Amino acid sequence: MAFSYMPGFGNDFETETLPGSLPQGRNSPQRPAYGLYAEQLSGSPFTAPRGTNERSWLYRIRPSVRHTGRFKPASYPLWKSAPNLGDHELALGQYRWNPVPMPKEPTDFIAGMRSITTAGDVLGQTGMAAHVYVANRSMVDDHFFNADGELLVVPQIGSLRLVTEMGVIELRPGEIAVLPRGLVFKVELVDETVRGYVCENYGAKLTLPDRGPIGANCLANPRDFKTPCAWFEEKETPCRLIVKWCGQFHVTELDHSPLDVVAWHGNYSPYKYDLATFSPVGAILFDHPDPSIFTVLTAPSGEEGTANIDFVIFPPRWLVAENTFRPPWYHRNIMSEFMGLIHGQYDAKEEGFVPGGISLHNLMLAHGPDASGFEKASRAELKPVKLDNTMAFMFETRFPQMLTRYAAEVETRQDNYIDCWADLKKRFNGTPEGDWS
Ligand SMILES: [Fe+2]
Repeated sequence: MAFSYMPGFGNDFETETLPGSLPQGRNSPQRPAYGLYAEQLSGSPFTAPRGTNERSWLYRIRPSVRHTGRFKPASYPLWKSAPNLGDHELALGQYRWNPVPMPKEPTDFIAGMRSITTAGDVLGQTGMAAHVYVANRSMVDDHFFNADGELLVVPQIGSLRLVTEMGVIELRPGEIAVLPRGLVFKVELVDETVRGYVCENYGAKLTLPDRGPIGANCLANPRDFKTPCAWFEEKETPCRLIVKWCGQFHVTELDHSPLDVVAWHGNYSPYKYDLATFSPVGAILFDHPDPSIFTVLTAPSGEEGTANIDFVIFPPRWLVAENTFRPPWYHRNIMSEFMGLIHGQYDAKEEGFVPGGISLHNLMLAHGPDASGFEKASRAELKPVKLDNTMAFMFETRFPQMLTRYAAEVETRQDNYIDCWADLKKRFNGTPEGDWS
């Protein structure tokens, strides 16, 4: 079955599966067509300013209050929430990991969530968590919603079907999806085994960054974001709804599927985006701009220009700058950088940072190209070069990212990451030429 989408970012969409199921000219008729219940899902306070006010009207077989019964506690011990301090004994450092191991037991998307870092405070609705998911089983009768934040899903291996109450998103590596706070969904696997990254955003929603002098085009263009058309199922068999709420998990049992929205309209909805449609802007003579030039989505923190989260990619692109050290420069950053690699090779690291891997450069910890990358870039002939077969990304936040015990102890953490800079030599010898022997 092919699923369809509506283009645009943050549009006021409308979609119906049955003719006339979406009320026109009003939100809450006395008796909606088909005997549906009208329900509002608020993504912002009622009184938020027009530019950030988000809500959708859902017309469904049963109201959501019938999709919850009594809750019982549930346990997902590897999915952590901030603040998660003192979880391990590992000292401060720059860290890097090989890919998180795939599960041997049957594991679905929710049980397969392994938190790597947490930042800020889930109760204060600031900060984020960075997770890796690994799964080998579809969610069939289990459904989930996260009251703690929206989920940015970045597949690395295997395609997913995000079956949400507002429609179905098919997602493959190279695409990303955002599942808003509170949205009910389940994750089906298209491939046998899947792995990817998730950024859980506790704060204000991800949105498109302002482009400033770049103007009205390039970077992520709104028309390339896709929101699913309505889809529902009428399934009258036992189901479960799992909820993440203030860092804890709860489960409730139902005798039917909660994915029963026949029509909806509004601007609070899930979406996906193909990273290949990102139009990079960069250096065309010398030096290169800050990596913020590659921001796909940004979540504001309340302080201008200081993001709760920036989602940044490092896509294929041409390198043409003259008399320039072309890889990322050495730096220390007031923001904290969680990086992943979807496929290919990242230009600042010749080896050691593999697809599915992770690096973490925290608040004010120095980093930059490894010794061999520096050598090569310092001596390279500066003709135009296409950096191809690469897609790295970064979850960058204003908050320090605290490691989880899982991340500190998992066997794929590289104990020797710091050594990648050990061979950077002193080249200063008092002469303007320096020592390049
Ligand atoms: Fe950095």
